[in-house]
Amino acid sequence: MMKLSIYENATEAAEFVRGRLGALNPQVAIVLGSGLGAVADAVEAPVYIPYAEIPHFPKSTAIGHAGRMVAGKLGGVDLVVMQGRVHFYEGYTPQQVTFPMRVLGRLGIHTVALTNAAGGLNPTYRVGQLVLIADHINYLGFNPAVGPNDDRMGLRFHDMTEAYSKKLRAIAQITATTIGLTLVEGVYLATSGPSYETPAEIRAFRQWGADLVGMSTVPETIIARHQGMHVLGISCVTNLAAGISPTLLTADEVIETGKQVQHQLAELFVKLAPRLNEN
Ligand code: HPA
Repeated sequence: MMKLSIYENATEAAEFVRGRLGALNPQVAIVLGSGLGAVADAVEAPVYIPYAEIPHFPKSTAIGHAGRMVAGKLGGVDLVVMQGRVHFYEGYTPQQVTFPMRVLGRLGIHTVALTNAAGGLNPTYRVGQLVLIADHINYLGFNPAVGPNDDRMGLRFHDMTEAYSKKLRAIAQITATTIGLTLVEGVYLATSGPSYETPAEIRAFRQWGADLVGMSTVPETIIARHQGMHVLGISCVTNLAAGISPTLLTADEVIETGKQVQHQLAELFVKLAPRLNEN
């Protein structure tokens, strides 16, 4: 049998998802990082779609990730929450890692909020702080748009000047103040993982201008932008980066911090969802 293209597989997956949505017509999606599942719990009249049921979808194996779509209403607007994502370090190809973004694109999502757990490099950051991603550095060693370009989805060479929408960042900052939260902006650097960084790597990344380090988000942003979707990025500083932290890094610490911050993030998204929808 002939192997179908990403576009055709994503269309099939999107049609499957649409068949489960009933009257919902989401145009906004939120992708949840490690330990940040509470946002999905805030969705009203939820429809759960396990990734395992969606055609061609990769299954998430990372800890702190549920592996399902939660569609419903948040702050009065229809949306899709991706509870769990897959990462390159799990052994998936760059195309598999970003397939969910292709499906969201085919579903008609115009704005996606990507959240993640990240290590903090900026000395002013505190554990548990939420930081807006202003820009990124791709240190993954690959670009998920590599391969034959499908003009139905986007351009061969796509612009990344404003990968993280300036307008959405301004909206997020204003919205955050209404719940007593101040959001600073930072540059997110993505590594493949799965090992955490060495202190020497962290010092080098700091010199490059990175404020945050993590193992996700960048492939999704690249593919979201390939399709012309607007991206908002929010990192939860779950730990101080290697060599800055007084203790050794553990995944337990990352998940634990996420769990403490996830309710604040949910509160923010209840307020933010209508504004993302209008965007
Ligand atoms: N490094 C890489 N990824 C991470 C970290 C970190 O310190 N914390 C959470 N995800």
